Amino acid sequence: MKNILVTGGSGFIGANFIRYLLSEKEFAGRIVNVDKLTYAGNADNLAGIDQAYRERYVFIKADICNLKTLTDIFKKFDIDTICHFAAESHVDRSIVEPGAFIQTNIVGTYNLLELARFNRKRLNLFHHVSTDEVYGSLDENGYFTEETPYRPNSPYSASKAASDHLVRAYSRTYGLPVTISNCSNNYGPFQFPEKLIPLMILNAIGGKELPVYGDGRNVRDWLYVSDHCRAVWAIMKKGKRGHTYNIGGRCEMRNLDVVRMICDILDEMFPNPDQPHGDLITFVKDRPGHDLRYAVDFSKLHSELGWAPDESFDTGIKKTIRWYVENKEWVERVKSGEYMSWLEQQYNQ
Ligand code: NAD
Ligand code: DAU
Repeated sequence: MKNILVTGGSGFIGANFIRYLLSEKEFAGRIVNVDKLTYAGNADNLAGIDQAYRERYVFIKADICNLKTLTDIFKKFDIDTICHFAAESHVDRSIVEPGAFIQTNIVGTYNLLELARFNRKRLNLFHHVSTDEVYGSLDENGYFTEETPYRPNSPYSASKAASDHLVRAYSRTYGLPVTISNCSNNYGPFQFPEKLIPLMILNAIGGKELPVYGDGRNVRDWLYVSDHCRAVWAIMKKGKRGHTYNIGGRCEMRNLDVVRMICDILDEMFPNPDQPHGDLITFVKDRPGHDLRYAVDFSKLHSELGWAPDESFDTGIKKTIRWYVENKEWVERVKSGEYMSWLEQQYNQ
């Protein structure tokens, strides 16, 4: 893998992945980051990377729905590998405005697959980054395995499921060398504050309400973002072509417990006996079609490639809170975009 096209590299996980891979001793090649810079993409997420890795990092602002541009980039940079992160990624937004999810997640992935098909002799690998949400919702028992049938419940997860099916179909029909990963909920630095963990951290620091959907009993399986990046790279290097790998944190937590833990840590960092942060917790209307529980069985990834998460939730959440406290400029810039006012309007409706 000499020239990797990374899509969506200016988003949360993509930026963490690019930082990780450029510092990885085993990789001496070049990364070409293609990102449209939507509200969720942010050039600051990779600040300093072009200076630090002059010959090895290129950024191009482009839409994956534009096949002509993708074709020019593929030729110009002699691409041999694609790692596809770009997506519309927020479930709540997909419920209000599904159109962008259909375009980017389905049509965008189709375009990249066409690019791969037209250039298949030069392509070593197409890695598709996907989500555990394609499997739907679990009750109190059981885990998602790679054999669990797809039952997506939101426009977001349905669009990701469609993209997974396209990747699989291109592999079977055209013989493309593909791998797919389906991962659970990530958290860590550079996550856009529409998602549960950064939203709660920033609202709590700002003395704002902490909106917990429904009764807060929904369970997610949390994974620190650097563990996800390591898993993706392990699959790209050694995963069996044509295979899917589940990635999870072995860290099931109820939303309310996550929020309480954030409040307790902030109480220690910024004590205010008159108003503990937990007083800000507010139960609000539930998300329509809200999946009850996600929990991932990643034993295939563990037994075949030796991967397991390094970070515990206790250490990961403390690192994450510290990062948001210490990166006020990043927070201010991200929050100043038009999207954040749109989001606030949605909450107030
Ligand atoms: P994100 O929303 O933070 O970043 C998405 C990036 O894609 C942004 O930089 C955005 O500008 C870019 N993008 C969007 N539309 C584009 C387009 N048409 N053309 C080019 N670039 C475009 O998302 P994330 O949380 O970093 O997720 C990355 C990937 O990982 C997604 O495919 C998502 O489905 C998957 N995933 C996320 C999680 C999670 O917990 N966040 C878990 C499992 C899988
Ligand atoms: O499971 C992987 C998925 O995790 C990824 O594919 C998605 O891209 C990512 O956004 C995430 O989806 P969720 O819907 O699980 O994440 P979110 O952070 O939006 O919500 C986590 C849980 O917290 C969910 O049960 C809804 C709840 N929630 C969320 C928000 C934003 C609240 O109770 N209050 C909130 O304000």
